[in-house]
Amino acid sequence: MNTQQNTVNKEIILTGDRATGPLHLGHYVGSLKQRVELQSTHDQTILVADMQGLTDNAHNPNKVSSNILNVVADYLAVGIDPSQTTICLQSQLPALAELTMYYSNLVTIARLERNPTVKSEIQSKGFERSLPAGFLTYPISQAADITAFNATLIPVGDDQLPMLEQTNEIVRKVNALGGKEVLKECKPLLSNASRLPSTDGKNKMSKTMGNAINLGATEKEISAAVKSMYTDPNHLRVEDPGRVKDNVVFTYLDAFHPNLSYVAELKEQYQRGGLGDGSTKKILEECLQEMLRPIRERRAMYLNDKAQLIDILATGSHVSREKTAQVLYDVKGVFGLNIL
Ligand code: TRP
Repeated sequence: MNTQQNTVNKEIILTGDRATGPLHLGHYVGSLKQRVELQSTHDQTILVADMQGLTDNAHNPNKVSSNILNVVADYLAVGIDPSQTTICLQSQLPALAELTMYYSNLVTIARLERNPTVKSEIQSKGFERSLPAGFLTYPISQAADITAFNATLIPVGDDQLPMLEQTNEIVRKVNALGGKEVLKECKPLLSNASRLPSTDGKNKMSKTMGNAINLGATEKEISAAVKSMYTDPNHLRVEDPGRVKDNVVFTYLDAFHPNLSYVAELKEQYQRGGLGDGSTKKILEECLQEMLRPIRERRAMYLNDKAQLIDILATGSHVSREKTAQVLYDVKGVFGLNIL
């Protein structure tokens, strides 16, 4: 096949991560692994969402700025290849901010307040009394991210589904106003892996709650995290039968152990009785240490050469500015603003 033709026909993927902390195993299972697999068959852009990171951190901007290169190093360490995937920085793409302004006129406050993900974030961040306008409206800026690239496929976790729904509503409104297909609707690409629980078994893994294993975690941190993992609180003696369901050690073994029939045997033994938590944790720890060692080493190597990381972001942002100019022009056209 003609390669150029091939590039033209590739489906466009856009994903992003808020740059508010280093990425962790939850990101790996939920999205990063898929992005690595998709980069050779799709036209993929990954956005380091620094502006979205500021929507709840504007008073502590260092939390965002200091994590931008960490996130890029995380991408490269897991195998995202900048010659196949465009990695760009949201704040370097003015078209995104402009599109956000235009789209804002098409979305009601009531609609923004109904977004279930934003709703629960408002609660967990204690924003009920002092909600930044930028936070309530970040789904509009996310719609700008997605549509600016003409992306149709968005690999995300299920918490992002409300954002894609809002994006498609905006797309339909713009198309109705324009009287033709100006923007494309997108669909989610959900990983078939179930969401990875936090090490304490209480929540989803969170950058901020200290219950996650980061991709760059040291050997000691991995070891401590596995040792503290939630298992079956009623499994007191080795010979007692234990519960596999909601047992974080087994959830992680399912997600990361290369030999699933071995994991199935372990589960049987655990449920029968005769397998202690110390043993299952040891098996998990070995598996995670082995998997994360090369990622940690590559990550450190990339972070040692910040100039290279900046160069990758600058190149990707330059390419992305060119890619996003047309959609901005088209949307301004819908509002009759391409006069000059
Ligand atoms: N909201 C996403 C998150 O919290 C980050 C993000 C920003 C994003 N822009 C995006 C995801 C565009 C997908 C597409 O992780």
